[in-house]
Amino acid sequence: MQVLVTYYSRTGTTKKLAEHVARGVRQVPGVDCLLKPCSEVTREHFLASDAVIVGSPVYFGSMAAELKAVLDGFNGIRKRMEGKIGAAFATSHHGSGGKETTLISIIQAMLIFGMIVVGDPMDAGGHYGVAHAQGEGRAFRDDAAKLGNRVARLVMRLSPTFEGGAGAGRPTTTRRDAS
Ligand SMILES: Cc1cc2nc3c(=O)[nH]c(=O)nc-3n(C[C@H](O)[C@H](O)[C@H](O)COP(=O)(O)O)c2cc1C
Repeated sequence: MQVLVTYYSRTGTTKKLAEHVARGVRQVPGVDCLLKPCSEVTREHFLASDAVIVGSPVYFGSMAAELKAVLDGFNGIRKRMEGKIGAAFATSHHGSGGKETTLISIIQAMLIFGMIVVGDPMDAGGHYGVAHAQGEGRAFRDDAAKLGNRVARLVMRLSPTFEGGAGAGRPTTTRRDAS
């Protein structure tokens, strides 16, 4: 199983959060994590992943145009993304700088890709994803790891080959193959 963590980051804050999301993914045995800036992500990376976790800085209350351009460019694989898991994270300058609207902008695209969207777990806040404002403490980085961990565990639970998972006993067509 593979989880792709991808992000746009101009000054490094979102990149740092992405690294913590990836740390949480890697805590789950059997799940590989691919960590890449969105400028290096290809359609093949999207298609080869069972889940995609996407992060952006808040730019005027929405995802960065550079990230949006990548997602727009993947419109052609939209139907083949159906059934994969998606989650989001964001960073801002101000505490109430538009993080939730930015998370929603990413989630909106994921829903249109046909993905199954999950938020951050209850012990990380239980909302739309992980959001971090510059200057805030360590808890947010731990929340990022919890988001990655949640997505990775969900990937395993939905795996058709995972004994006891929700997909156990189902035909062997994987979400990756589904079109
Ligand atoms: C074009 C632009 C628009 C921004 N808009 C907002 C905003 O609306 N609210 C906010 O709190 N921060 C805003 N910021 C600040 C960034 O969201 C914040 O510094 C972020 O953590 C940077 O992430 P990065 O270090 O990964 O590039 C903006 C920055 C830029 C360059």
